[in-house]
Amino acid sequence: MKKGFFITFEGGEGAGKTTLIESVKEKLFDDKLDLIITREPGGTTFGEHVRELLLKKSTKIKISSKAELCLFLASRSQHIDDVIKPALSAGKIVLCDRYNDSSIAYQGHARGLGIDEVIKFSSFIIEDTLPDLTLYLDIDPKTGLSRVQSKYDRIESEKLSFHQKIREGFHILAKKFPDRIKMIDANKFKDEVLKNAMHYISKIIK
Ligand code: TYD
Repeated sequence: MKKGFFITFEGGEGAGKTTLIESVKEKLFDDKLDLIITREPGGTTFGEHVRELLLKKSTKIKISSKAELCLFLASRSQHIDDVIKPALSAGKIVLCDRYNDSSIAYQGHARGLGIDEVIKFSSFIIEDTLPDLTLYLDIDPKTGLSRVQSKYDRIESEKLSFHQKIREGFHILAKKFPDRIKMIDANKFKDEVLKNAMHYISKIIK
């Protein structure tokens, strides 16, 4: 049975999710709250292997949109069973860098598999493991991509129009699930972004 809180962080490339998660962790630690930080794809040994396969730039491996979705969901399924559910049952706060909304925005909208189709298909995997809160960091893809410091991975290397579609997908999701998904302007200074995030978090963790 779930007793903890499940908070996911979403956004396009370079939106600053990882930095925000670290700052949120410090704030919650100050309040002596028990939490874990995890990520997708990844979070388990299996998931980290799948992540490598998904993000590696290779001219030899061809991955279709549906195969790509299945791989993200395979990683998610293992992650839910081994990490997310046990932590929530133990009453912990789970801060997760990306989750199912990324599959809906990236594979559903940007790759064109369909938003409703991906929601339906993924529901078999995630069942009732839904976030209590999703913080979506909104940024213009051009700005976001310019912030990425490492060499672009397979997905970051997609065309700008693809990244614009991802943003559009997240906007559609934020409108569809306004109670759960809160949009935060990621162009603002770090402290302001954190303040906005903590505003929503403090509403669910009282
Ligand atoms: P990651 O490094 O975690 O994201 P970021 O670049 O924001 O730090 O890389 C994960 C990549 O995988 C990112 O491009 C988003 C993409 N992704 C999907 O396409 N579908 C999904 O379901 C998930 C979880 C991620």
